[in-house]
Amino acid sequence: MAQARSDRGAPTVPVTPITAERYISPDYMMQEREKLWAKVWLLAGLEQDVAEPGDYFVFDLAPESIVVSRSDDGELGAFYNACQHRGARILLSERGWLEQYTCPYHGWTYANDGRLVHVPEEESFSRGVPRDRLSLKPLRVEAWAGAVWVCMDPDAPTLDEFLGPIKALVDPFRPEAMRLIEDQTVRLDCNWKAVYDNFGELYHVEHIHPQHQLIFDCPTATVDLWDFGHTRVCIDGFTVNTRLAIPDEVPPTQWAQLEALGMNKDDYKGRVLDVRRDVQIKKREMAAVLGYNYDRLSDDQLSDIVQYNIFPNAILVLMPDDYMILRARPHATDPNRCYWDKLSLRMEPDDNAQTTGVNISFSREQAQGAGARPERDEFPYQDIVEGRKTMTITQDQDISLIRDIQQGMQSRGFSQAWLNDDESRVQHYHTWIDRYMNAESAG
Ligand code: FES
Ligand SMILES: [Fe+2]
Repeated sequence: MAQARSDRGAPTVPVTPITAERYISPDYMMQEREKLWAKVWLLAGLEQDVAEPGDYFVFDLAPESIVVSRSDDGELGAFYNACQHRGARILLSERGWLEQYTCPYHGWTYANDGRLVHVPEEESFSRGVPRDRLSLKPLRVEAWAGAVWVCMDPDAPTLDEFLGPIKALVDPFRPEAMRLIEDQTVRLDCNWKAVYDNFGELYHVEHIHPQHQLIFDCPTATVDLWDFGHTRVCIDGFTVNTRLAIPDEVPPTQWAQLEALGMNKDDYKGRVLDVRRDVQIKKREMAAVLGYNYDRLSDDQLSDIVQYNIFPNAILVLMPDDYMILRARPHATDPNRCYWDKLSLRMEPDDNAQTTGVNISFSREQAQGAGARPERDEFPYQDIVEGRKTMTITQDQDISLIRDIQQGMQSRGFSQAWLNDDESRVQHYHTWIDRYMNAESAG
């Protein structure tokens, strides 16, 4: 099913009904556990959180809890967070450093590569304790794009096969070199797919994100649809919405970035559409000075925004110096609730950067932050609606609406979505959701 395309306009995709059931039904939610979550590669967390031997983090995807570890011998591992004695959760903190994992219930102890190494009063097990069978249960694990990916299904395709063309397209951005600067989770009153869908179309942008028309040109965005339900959208940046009236002067929304690049906004009076090309040239010129390596990026990639929606619940947003990972996670018991994670990363300039005399917004100091890993900040969506928290103005606008979308879908008066051509990514995604949910071998 090769539906990738790179021309402008909307591709044709097979239409399968996107019914309300998949968003609101507890039964559908339970089926997802077996047929979807247990069958795909999942973005578990950041590789930088398991950089050193002994580092671990816990990835919660209800009802599963998965430990990702870097063992003493430097190997990346992933294990179900379930003690092989009587099933207790072993690690209860989000991340940390441990040589051994000791179960809080009876004290069974595992090495950080998952091996069972100590059982209190072992002689009391008259049938013995077969350690090879009672080590922590592993699952498949790979590192890519600065993230750790896990898969519960031993028979699923490899991560490379699953990602298809995406890997080669993302790698030039060097996401693995970007460092975390902010870690947020918002609790939403919507199904995890409802918020994911929101990031699968630009149709709503002109309607609820008016600020975008002075930064991006959404109407000319290009879309790619790939096997396994992945999609991409590329949007021209440092420009304006060309479907609307072109302003005579560079909009204030771009001033700071132009200044950071040493460009004068007044040079672009009457030729606002030239900014994008000149930003590309300027960034290329200044890369060495700023300590950035843009050698593997195209000119378009220096100015534009590219977003990969990686089936079923992760999104990678890539720019030359910034990287955002978004992820939807289901609630443990309620299809009408979910978690929305946002990890913001930034490129660290190379050590040989010559930053003297250059007024750059993305300076080494900012890129490196205070040095310590930011703690994850988790909050209810009301904190965004009422202005106590922000996840960028754009996402705040989306989040402010999402509960009402979920509530509308629960109405007897709504049965299924009716999508336009610009929502082809949403359709493609749900076609693949159906493929997994209807797969014979699932279960
Ligand atoms: S359940 Fe873990 S030691 Fe008993
Ligand atoms: Fe949006």
